[in-house]
Amino acid sequence: MRIIKTIAELREALRLTRKRALVPTMGNLHAGHLSLVRIARQRGDLVITSLFVNRLQFAPHEDFATYPRTFERDCELLAGSGCDIVFSPADDEIYSEAQGYTVHPPPELNDILEGQVRPGFFTGVCTVVLKLFNIVQPDVAVFGKKDYQQLLMVRSMVRQLALPIEIVPGETVRDASGLALSSRNGYLNDSQRTEAAQLQKALRNLAVAVQSGRTDWPTLEREALEFLGARGWQADYVAIRRQRDLREATLGDPLVALAAARLGGTRLIDNLEI
Ligand code: PAF
Repeated sequence: MRIIKTIAELREALRLTRKRALVPTMGNLHAGHLSLVRIARQRGDLVITSLFVNRLQFAPHEDFATYPRTFERDCELLAGSGCDIVFSPADDEIYSEAQGYTVHPPPELNDILEGQVRPGFFTGVCTVVLKLFNIVQPDVAVFGKKDYQQLLMVRSMVRQLALPIEIVPGETVRDASGLALSSRNGYLNDSQRTEAAQLQKALRNLAVAVQSGRTDWPTLEREALEFLGARGWQADYVAIRRQRDLREATLGDPLVALAAARLGGTRLIDNLEI
């Protein structure tokens, strides 16, 4: 496995390669990321994983400075998971000048759920993802369903900008309690970690109610918010949406339930396809 830090060196290494599969990450890897690497391994001849904490997607009050950077451990994990190239650029390799050109996703996908709570987040995500796509020129890129809105947004960006890249989704990986693996789980103390599984439980309860025929979705969303609130969570949203584009769902649409909530100082997100 090669570790490459500059765009020039990466381009040289990628010359003459065949099918490239990219897994973009911000590092601090866990089993969820490694499952994406394994998908990439099946889909490409050469697997590239990027490790880059993208400051453009953090608001000033968010955790860019303290976001865990675990480079050595990440490389060990990647070496054991079938990754061929780790692309780990410094901040000024990606942002060598102020990023004046940015990607502004369409409001119908940008101004809802995560984008509504975190203005500018998806501009930061899409801008760096497009840059990584331009640098790596992958045939395939793998994104986890854990960040459901991000996955849909990258898919729609690729479609609308006619990028010749297949976006492959990876299932969310959970621990034994049901908690979705996330780099930010590391911020939780022991009791919060036990409690954290209740976010998925709230979504499961809601899914069971929908599957048993309830169609009063706003009530189900409110009940889930109350469930979390009573346990000490501060929820940003619980929403039942249609899977395709996260718009308001109507009967017959394949659904997804999404939630974001804060436990102490840690903000967690999760979702469940129904
Ligand atoms: O999902 C992430 O880790 C990030 O949003 C991504 C896609 C690597 C862009 O910085």
